[in-house]
Amino acid sequence: MLSVDYNDKNYDYTRYWEGRDYEHTAEFIALKKLLPKNIDSSKNVIDIGGGFGRLIPIFKDYFGSITVFDCSQRLLDLAKETGKQMGINVKTIQCDVYKLASCSTEKFDYAAMIRVSHHLDDLQSVFEQIYGVLNDNGVFILEIANKMHFKSVLLNLFKGNLKYFSRDSVSVATKDVTFLNHHPKEIEKMLKEAGFKIEKKLSVSNFRVSFVTRYFPVKILLRFENLTQGILSYFYFGPSIFYKLVKK
Ligand SMILES: C[S@@+](CC[C@H](N)C(=O)[O-])C[C@H]1O[C@@H](n2cnc3c(N)ncnc32)[C@H](O)[C@@H]1O
Repeated sequence: MLSVDYNDKNYDYTRYWEGRDYEHTAEFIALKKLLPKNIDSSKNVIDIGGGFGRLIPIFKDYFGSITVFDCSQRLLDLAKETGKQMGINVKTIQCDVYKLASCSTEKFDYAAMIRVSHHLDDLQSVFEQIYGVLNDNGVFILEIANKMHFKSVLLNLFKGNLKYFSRDSVSVATKDVTFLNHHPKEIEKMLKEAGFKIEKKLSVSNFRVSFVTRYFPVKILLRFENLTQGILSYFYFGPSIFYKLVKK
């Protein structure tokens, strides 16, 4: 299957975020809980599949150097521009994540990969690549699209579809593209095999359900989101699971 073509000039990924303030802010709230407590300008970060640089506004407050890595040159040009507007020189690398270690000459204190895992069908190889570009004790912040989130669990229990509960990833693609939701337990097994220790996890965008977002103000939802990200992670409740992982 094909990956989504973020390089296609007819597909504007920046517009995807219009009207998604709740999810965008929920992710920033989660990242703040996973990023270092103290700002250290000697630390660097690589944002893998960083796209147009949506996360640059948060990373700039924590790191002295930001590299955005992506397969789409079009999005990387936008990321450079995002950095320029904030007075930051953002480095970019255009490459496929499966070749990450050979495409980067630099090693990193932090790596982040947010909203990319659903495009990847061999995450074990990707985790090994990421391990290879991290410094000793480096931190990897990962988001996965969660197969076991409560809506899917309820729906499949209701349908009596017990096969759904296997650890296999499930395709939720509407077109001929790779779009996978992953089983968090399987992901955790792969991460351990790749050499990562799980330090923290969070359940994110927990209230992304149309009737809830329609009737409750975003501000209120974000308050609940902030309070529940930790506790709900024990149940893999939300559509996104964020991990803080440390290179062993
Ligand atoms: C949904 S966007 C997420 C962008 C960004 N992380 C964010 O949260 O806004 C997915 C990104 O992953 C990139 N991507 C997908 N497959 C990739 C691959 N095999 N290697 C490198 N980048 C990839 C796409 O080009 C796109 O920028």
